[in-house]
Amino acid sequence: AAVDNAPAIVVGSGYGAAVAALRLGQAGIRTIMIEMGRLWNTPGSDGKVFCSTANPDQRSMWFRTRTEAPLATFLWLDVVNKDISLYPGVLDRVRFANMSVFVGRGVGGGSLVNGCMAVTPLKSYFAEQFPTVDADEMYGTYFPRANSMLGVNTVDPSWFESTEWYRFSRISRKHAQNTGLKTTFVPSTYDFAYMQKEAAGTATRSALAQEVIYGNNHGKKSLDKTYLAAALGTGNVTINTMERVRAVSRASDGRYVLTADRINDAGTVVETKQYSCTYLFLGGGSLGTTELLVRARDTGTLPALDASVGAGWGPNGNTMLGRANHLWDTVGANQSTMPVMGIDDWANTANPVFAEIAPLPTGLEHWVSLYLAITKNPQRATFTYNSATGGVNLGWTAAQSAVSSAMAKKLFDRINSANTTIYRTDLFGSANRTFADDFTYHPLGGCVLGRATDNYGRVKGYSKLYVTDGSLVPGSIGVNPFVTITALAERTMARVLVEDTAP
Ligand code: FDA
Repeated sequence: AAVDNAPAIVVGSGYGAAVAALRLGQAGIRTIMIEMGRLWNTPGSDGKVFCSTANPDQRSMWFRTRTEAPLATFLWLDVVNKDISLYPGVLDRVRFANMSVFVGRGVGGGSLVNGCMAVTPLKSYFAEQFPTVDADEMYGTYFPRANSMLGVNTVDPSWFESTEWYRFSRISRKHAQNTGLKTTFVPSTYDFAYMQKEAAGTATRSALAQEVIYGNNHGKKSLDKTYLAAALGTGNVTINTMERVRAVSRASDGRYVLTADRINDAGTVVETKQYSCTYLFLGGGSLGTTELLVRARDTGTLPALDASVGAGWGPNGNTMLGRANHLWDTVGANQSTMPVMGIDDWANTANPVFAEIAPLPTGLEHWVSLYLAITKNPQRATFTYNSATGGVNLGWTAAQSAVSSAMAKKLFDRINSANTTIYRTDLFGSANRTFADDFTYHPLGGCVLGRATDNYGRVKGYSKLYVTDGSLVPGSIGVNPFVTITALAERTMARVLVEDTAP
């Protein structure tokens, strides 16, 4: 096959990849990005690029015949998921033995499907997770840079207090306050000025029209509108879509050689391409990057990779749960899909939990308060190569998930007791399930900074090979992770462009 050469290649187009591509392009280095998903810029027959959670179609999920939304049922009725046709849709649910991982597919990666919560972690917890990283430099330079580049903004507090669209948050805040717990506003990459226009009826609704996990047609400052637009604007970056990198090896001249399968809308491989580059940046996310490196080590194409490649994975302690409110505590038929508030009990050293108050926008009053709890679950798992499938297995167990649920239960038992409320058991599929701890939105680790790589994401055992994504984070960061991933990638690029690319 023909070989496409470039000085630099970036695998993926999520947060870590987008930072790498922009900074390479600005440094004048010609760069090819390779993304397995689509470029989401073409309207369907309904005039929209993305479909809503209320009415999902083929655009919703990555090659499925039925949607697999995290909320499987409602009042035990299978009303949430719908039959769809096979298509390279925007949200994927990757199923391992005891853990499903939701990830975005397309130019922009997770930024296309996520809830926009843009949270800078507590400095003390960041320092605990990254003891070898200069925290002052992160909080003085790279976190501010990431927040500004991502377009992070905050909801106007007076609008928040008055709008029907955040009544669900105010009710949960009241119940937290009744328990003696602290709540905090959560910044966002959703444009709140736009959201206020949606509410006023002067702009097309997106967050106020049940759009989020299958993409937003408006308002969301996804990476294609921020970092990636700027990267393309340098004139040095191109993005090849619908191509999945399958193998990485090193030629005798030191260049990296990549094999990528190009697929069509039916998922059929229509071409196998070869790429070669001097500098290789892996930004396929915790799953994508770790799978590539575990496979490369264990099939012998990059045999010098460290034994810790594949290790240190965690789901950021994610557990979802719902509470049933009293009839007088209505949460509102109208709910914005963008969360803006969390219950912050991280300082409780006996049971640290940060629980974001999540919407459940059905268009009907349902009296449910929904939460995504981020717990300080210390359990970690390892990816191993599966020679039968050519993929990887994840050694995460149900008992490890139970650690997250137990921590969430301790917090929410207190909230229920203070408010004489109970859990909802009808939301997560199988009968009487209270905690959904078998899926995560926050896959973290697999190529942990300072273990599988040096202190800047340079992969041990090889030169000019870098990891810039969520695989660097050791399984937990205590808050929603994309700001941390972005800031760490900025730190890596600042160092690498000075030290490694001198002519
Ligand atoms: P990311 O997953 O973003 O990007 C990886 C890209 O690489 C993908 O586009 C993938 O298709 C591509 N790729 C992978 N392997 C490849 C290969 N072999 N060849 C070619 N391409 C490949 N976080 C947060 O901070 N706030 C929030 O509100 C939320 N909410 C949320 C909701 C939902 C539904 C999800 C699924 C996730 C979130 N998250 C979140 C998590 C957040 O989106 C996530 O942490 C980041 O997107 C991870 O960024 P990365 O750069 O690591 O990879």
